[in-house]
Amino acid sequence: MLENRRILLIVSGGIAAVKVPDLIRRLRERGASVRCILTKSGAEFVTPLTLASLSGEKVYQDLFSLTDEAEMGHIRLSREADIILVAPATANIMAKMAAGLADDLATTALLATDKPVMIAPAMNVMMWTHPATQANLQTLQSREVKVVGPSAGDLACGEVGNGRMAEVPEIIAALTRFFQKSEGQGPLTGLKAIVTSGPTHEPIDPVRYIANRSSGKQGHAVATALAHMGAQVTLVSGPTHEADPDGVKVVHVETARQMMKACSDALPADIVVAAAAVADWAPAVKDQKLKKGDAAAALNLSENPDILAALAQAGPTRPKLVVGFAAETTNLIESAKAKLTKKNCDWIVANDVSKGTGVFGGDTNTVHLVTAKGVEDWPTLSKRAVAERLAERIATALNPS
Ligand code: CTP
Repeated sequence: MLENRRILLIVSGGIAAVKVPDLIRRLRERGASVRCILTKSGAEFVTPLTLASLSGEKVYQDLFSLTDEAEMGHIRLSREADIILVAPATANIMAKMAAGLADDLATTALLATDKPVMIAPAMNVMMWTHPATQANLQTLQSREVKVVGPSAGDLACGEVGNGRMAEVPEIIAALTRFFQKSEGQGPLTGLKAIVTSGPTHEPIDPVRYIANRSSGKQGHAVATALAHMGAQVTLVSGPTHEADPDGVKVVHVETARQMMKACSDALPADIVVAAAAVADWAPAVKDQKLKKGDAAAALNLSENPDILAALAQAGPTRPKLVVGFAAETTNLIESAKAKLTKKNCDWIVANDVSKGTGVFGGDTNTVHLVTAKGVEDWPTLSKRAVAERLAERIATALNPS
């Protein structure tokens, strides 16, 4: 997908610029050509000679350089590319882009371009979360600027939090996806996914049922994100107020047993994401409405099938990637790790659903991705952003590039 793509790489001044040589190497391995603009502060972290040697092209630095402008003016530089990638993108360059400033070669090229732009932000966590940066981010996104990362972790400044530049494979994946999308394809084109979502309702009698507070927002968002990436998605949903996502086959069910059957019917699949809050037990259903004095007879519970564990069972029909959720109120990570092993799934998205977190029914989620390799803490994100990030991770896992 990156073969013969022309990437104008703008390197601004952050410690993450040290990852740029590797980025250039990986892009060129995939057949892309890379031409670099290095800002003055970028040159404090990586030398023009390094970038020139790795890209095999002249590195452009100065807006007022007679030779540069005569050879390749900033307008031509910005137009002779398929995409402009700003990596790392500092808070400063993001602010300049949002404001439309053009006080050096990089910002002038960004203002003069008619090509798509992607940024890979990298900065201190306080700078990233500052309302000014967040407002600039929103402005840029509203202008269709693509954003990859940042991720959470140890920052060069010694603090811990969100602000690390996306890793090279993540940037490569985002570029690949961009070009795939522009050709009407997605990284998951040709793959089938089953997603469960929402609560289940387990009837007690003709008028009563056991339910839980799951809204289905997270599961529906995952189905949407996978479909956007080209997957053929079957969403098996319990009763929710969420609209059926476009481009997704939706099977509406009520009980856990119906959900189990609908999932089995949707096999074979390549991907399973079990986001439903399946009721663990079902009462023995009474045909007639129970009367007030019948309390003792009301809940004769039996255990429901574990849909995730059933789908993840080893065997020829096992999907390539099975992802569960773990909704916990105590010992979040330990319980999630235990579920990963017990249910034989590949990843668990662990989220704290204690009262006060507002996860059930809310629009945001703070999750931890638990895999055999370890635990990744994700920042608090909208459920849509969690779904998109998860779908990206799934795409990367299934199409290692
Ligand atoms: N799950 C499922 N079928 C069930 C119960 C759970 O598919 N009968 C799936 C959920 O969709 C989720 C994962 O298993 O992906 C974990 O769900 P959770 O409610 O956290 O765990 P339980 O297995 O129900 O364990 P417990 O309630 O004891 O923590």
